[in-house]
Amino acid sequence: MDATLSYELLRSFTTPVVAITAARGGKRNGMISDVAIRASIVPDVPRLMILVHKFNYTHDMIFETGRFALHALHRGQFDLIERLGFESGRDRDKLAEVPHRPGALGCPILEDCWAWFECRVINVMDTGSSTCFLGEAADFGRGPGKEIMTPGYMRANLPPEWREPYLTKLAAAQAWAAERSRELRAVTWPGVGPPAA
Ligand SMILES: Cc1cc2nc3c(=O)[nH]c(=O)nc-3n(C[C@H](O)[C@H](O)[C@H](O)COP(=O)(O)O)c2cc1C
Repeated sequence: MDATLSYELLRSFTTPVVAITAARGGKRNGMISDVAIRASIVPDVPRLMILVHKFNYTHDMIFETGRFALHALHRGQFDLIERLGFESGRDRDKLAEVPHRPGALGCPILEDCWAWFECRVINVMDTGSSTCFLGEAADFGRGPGKEIMTPGYMRANLPPEWREPYLTKLAAAQAWAAERSRELRAVTWPGVGPPAA
């Protein structure tokens, strides 16, 4: 199998670059992802799926609270990608200088974005290295951003000084995931069943 080719082909299945935020026990946090998928075609059932690696602090916050906010970023948000996506918030408050407010479900809603959705987790699936969270939006809104940030745009325009740290972090995540991707386990999400009010 040509693994390099399969990776390049799958990279073309694009979603926006997003910031995912969560809060738990008085702490707030956020991370960057480029896997966020529309998971419903029904206008009054707004659903999204995200895949979050288990080593991320945000993963544990979402798993334990069953809530997250997803923000599709706009093209001017490279600073936020560096701030939230290059280091973990386990030891520091990455949102301290990022303007935000608490949403209806308690997740940090960032002032600057292209659009945001605050979601309740309604089901999960294990991928071995990550958890796929199916979220139903309880609230959402449009941000001031004009053009959405795609992964292709991000990779082509990432400031040169961030390229090496980005690629180093990506390689480390790939190595971590490679060891765990085949250890699938069944997860029963306790919240499944009742509709998200
Ligand atoms: C462009 C970009 C895309 C990323 N995509 C993902 C992703 O799809 N899934 C994921 O779990 N982490 C992804 N990350 C990595 C997390 O954002 C990163 O590990 C972050 O430091 C996690 O922070 P936390 O530990 O505070 O949650 C991405 C990072 C960048 C910069």
